[in-house]
Parts: sequence; structure tokens; C-alpha cells
Amino acid sequence: MKQVRKAIIPAAGMGTRFLPATKSMPKEMLPIVDKPVLQYVIEEAVNSGIDDILIVTGRGKQAIENHFDYNPDLEVFLRSAGKSDLIELVRDIGEQAQIHYIRQKEQLGLGDAIRLGRHHMGGEPFAVLLGDTIIEPPHGQKPGLRQVLDAFEQTQSSVVAVHRVPMEWVSRYGVVDGEPEGGNPDLLRLRKLVEKPAMNVAPSNLAIAGRYVFTAEIFDCIDRTQRGVGGEIQLTDAMNLLAQDHPVYALAWQARRFDIGNRLEYAKCFLEFALKREDTGPKLLEHLKWLLEDGEQPV
Ligand code: UTP
Repeated sequence: MKQVRKAIIPAAGMGTRFLPATKSMPKEMLPIVDKPVLQYVIEEAVNSGIDDILIVTGRGKQAIENHFDYNPDLEVFLRSAGKSDLIELVRDIGEQAQIHYIRQKEQLGLGDAIRLGRHHMGGEPFAVLLGDTIIEPPHGQKPGLRQVLDAFEQTQSSVVAVHRVPMEWVSRYGVVDGEPEGGNPDLLRLRKLVEKPAMNVAPSNLAIAGRYVFTAEIFDCIDRTQRGVGGEIQLTDAMNLLAQDHPVYALAWQARRFDIGNRLEYAKCFLEFALKREDTGPKLLEHLKWLLEDGEQPV
């Protein structure tokens, strides 16, 4: 049985929806309380059993490599400031997996970013985690990518994670057209993906959630994909080619998805994560109550 060890994290996009913050800072490095988004994504990969990660970066994304590297000056400073306990915190980040980088010279879309990983993946099946998307599984459930890897191990085929969205939202997403298979209503054999369908013609309300496992055939399909809107090579087009000749499954999971490239989703994610933490949650909740109820300002 094939096991997946490697993952690609595309993080080379321009982040235009988040300007001006992304003018000089990658959106993948925006903090959710005290950790950048990309660190949450890498932790999900590692907690799912991945030990080799290829991050696709681009111009202006040096902060990513610096974050996952040692910083001797900072360590010297922390030691002299009597804050040695923080050294482990900043060192550990890059040690959870083998992290490699490749640069996308032109932002030609997600399909193009993934294509750059062909050589590194060496013909093995591999995972893809969007670098600007945080997945939050329900309490007690496995990490998002682990759920997709379990479905891969069961089917030995490519799998895309999808989540149910209100029907009025389908026109914002890539949506699945497929058939449940093998007695599991949450695992569908994919007929095709429909990009941003109108509500009245959408084949389902199952929207692509930013986590995938692919067999190596996806690379030939990306090569055969024509450039679409804005000259970009769309991953969904390549997946439709893949589904014509190979089984591809959609796993409908319960996990929540935060696309932090979208300002409102980012604000929601920050707020929810801050509310869950012991050091910030209780005081923040008091503050929110005050804001909403117009009561007495908490100190
Ligand atoms: P998005 O389409 O959300 O990113 O890609 P974007 O192009 O930066 O978004 P906007 O519309 O300009 O705000 C999802 C993920 O794929 C990466 C992005 O960095 C993001 O993590 N990506 C996208 C690439 O690596 N290369 C690309 O050419 C496009």
C-alpha cells in the first residue's frame, strides 16, 4: 500500500485581496494571535504524518524562509535578556519536518505552483495544503489532512477535501459533481469539479476545502491544462482531466475552513483562536460582551 510522506504548500500568490498588508509581507505570514498562518498549516501536515515539505515561494516571500530557519542573533538576545525559555519556542519551528523551498517565478496559478514540485515528489503520491488556509477539525477529530490521507489509504486514489456550504455561497467556490461510493455517504467518486457555478445549476453544495492528496498522474494533467482567466493554470481544470482517466474522490468532512486570504475570514479566525486560548480568551470575551451590550468597560 502506498503511504504519503511528502507535501507541497503553495505560498507564492500575490495576496491582492489583502493589500496593503501583503505589499511587503506574505499573507501566509499573517499572525493568528502569535503564530503565522503557515505555521498552523505546517503543524497540521506534521501532525498528519508528513515529514517532507516543499514550500512554493516567490518574490517578496523571504520572511517565510527566515521564519523556519534558526535566528542566532535573536537567540543571543533572548539569552542575555534572561528569556532562554523562549529559545526553544523559536527554534522548534523549523525542526518538525524537512522543509524545502522552490520559487515560482511568475504567479501563473495554483496548477503551475504544484507543477514545480514534480521533481521533488519523485513519482510518489503527495499531499497539497494551501498555505493561506487553516483547517479546524471538530473537537476530538483527526487533523484535516490526516482525514484526507485516511481516505487515500482506503482508495489508493487522489482525494480532495470538500465541505458543505450554504447553497447561496456555491458561486464563490469550486463545487463537486459526484456519486457516493462504497456505502460511505461522505466519500464521493468525482465526475467533475465545476468552478463557481450559479446557485440554480450547481451540482452540489460541496466546496473544495484546500487540502488534497494526488497520485503522480496529476503532473501530466497539469501539463495538458490550457491557461485560463488571467493566464493562470487552474488546478481544478487539471483535476477534471485526471478524473477522466483515473478515480478521484471527494471527502466531505466536518472540519471548518478559514481562507485567510479573505479579510473577513481572517478576522473570524483570529477572533475564534484568541477566544479559545486561556491567556487571551476570558478577557477578550469580556471585552466583546462590553462592545456588544454597551455595558461597563472591563479593565
Ligand atoms: P489564492 O488564489 O487564494 O492566492 O491561492 P492569491 O493569488 O495570492 O490570492 P489573491 O486573489 O491575489 O488575494 C491559494 C494558495 O495558492 C498560492 C497562494 O499563495 C495561496 O497560498 N498560489 C496561488 C501560488 O503559490 N501561486 C499562484 O500562482 C497562485
